Amino acid sequence: MTDVPTVKLNNGVHMPQVGFGVFQVPDDETTAAVKAAIAAGYRSIDTAAVYGNEAGVGRALAESDVDRSELFVTTKVWNSDHGYDQTLRAFDASLDRLGLDTLDLYLIHWPTPERDRYVDTWRALVKLQEDGRVRAIGVSNFQPAHLRRVIDATGVVPSVNQIELHPFLQQEELRAVHAEHGIATEAWSPLAKGGDLLGHPAITALARRHGRTPAQVVLRWHLQLGNIVIPKSVTPSRIAENLALFDFSLTDEDMAQLAPLHDGTRTGPDPDTFNAA
Ligand SMILES: NC(=O)c1ccc[n+]([C@@H]2O[C@H](COP(=O)([O-])OP(=O)(O)OC[C@H]3O[C@@H](n4cnc5c(N)ncnc54)[C@H](OP(=O)(O)O)[C@@H]3O)[C@@H](O)[C@H]2O)c1
Repeated sequence: MTDVPTVKLNNGVHMPQVGFGVFQVPDDETTAAVKAAIAAGYRSIDTAAVYGNEAGVGRALAESDVDRSELFVTTKVWNSDHGYDQTLRAFDASLDRLGLDTLDLYLIHWPTPERDRYVDTWRALVKLQEDGRVRAIGVSNFQPAHLRRVIDATGVVPSVNQIELHPFLQQEELRAVHAEHGIATEAWSPLAKGGDLLGHPAITALARRHGRTPAQVVLRWHLQLGNIVIPKSVTPSRIAENLALFDFSLTDEDMAQLAPLHDGTRTGPDPDTFNAA
């Protein structure tokens, strides 16, 4: 079985560099998908309250014979639960649905700048970490200004920022801010949702040269940049394929060939304007 490398977060906690995402997987299908992922060797699972499948993740964890201490579970507080007290309540509800006593990583899902409550939400995450209820805390979809604001207000630097990142959206500015503060970069939609990116000639050429699939080339590009990735699939062969990344590498020249693919394309909302409840 593949031994997945870990990234050491800024509070000393180790997080697997490849995890399994379950966005848009219906709750009743999530248990089978997570079980397949754990059987394939994944130890990190990424869900969120708004995905509506924390219970499905929880069932898979409960039925797994892998020790809890070897699993790394992430969930996220949704936009409508921003604010100190609401976030503490949302955390309890997520843990109940997951059937867990403690969480590994809790993230603020979006800053929702119009709401303007993310600093209070962050204070709640700091409290949860101080109380030992979560091993690491972070944010998602935070832009540089949002990061600076929570750091300035609380003095606590997020361990992770989970952002949309793939060869079409390389997030150079955010990655530089992360490096400056010791924040780990976690890429969501690392495969750009499996669309045009996987058919791009630069990717397919590298795939042919290395005898790998386009998805493996893209995931390997992420790993070599130091990103944490959480590819999603409900297809068992792809679940395994997306973890078979540790017996080949891209050369510096290969990496350089993917740099020009950046064109700023987002597959999801823009964090500066996304304020949905
Ligand atoms: N924080 C946030 O705001 C946020 C937003 C979006 C996503 N996320 C997280 O990031 C995770 C991943 O993002 P995502 O689900 O949007 O997109 P993704 O992982 O980039 O792509 C998933 C899509 O690619 C397909 N796929 C997976 N592996 C493949 C392979 N080896 N070859 C060809 N196609 C493949 C999947 O199809 P099948 O499933 O049919 O195999 C699915 O349609 C989510 O599940 C979620 O945990 C977070």
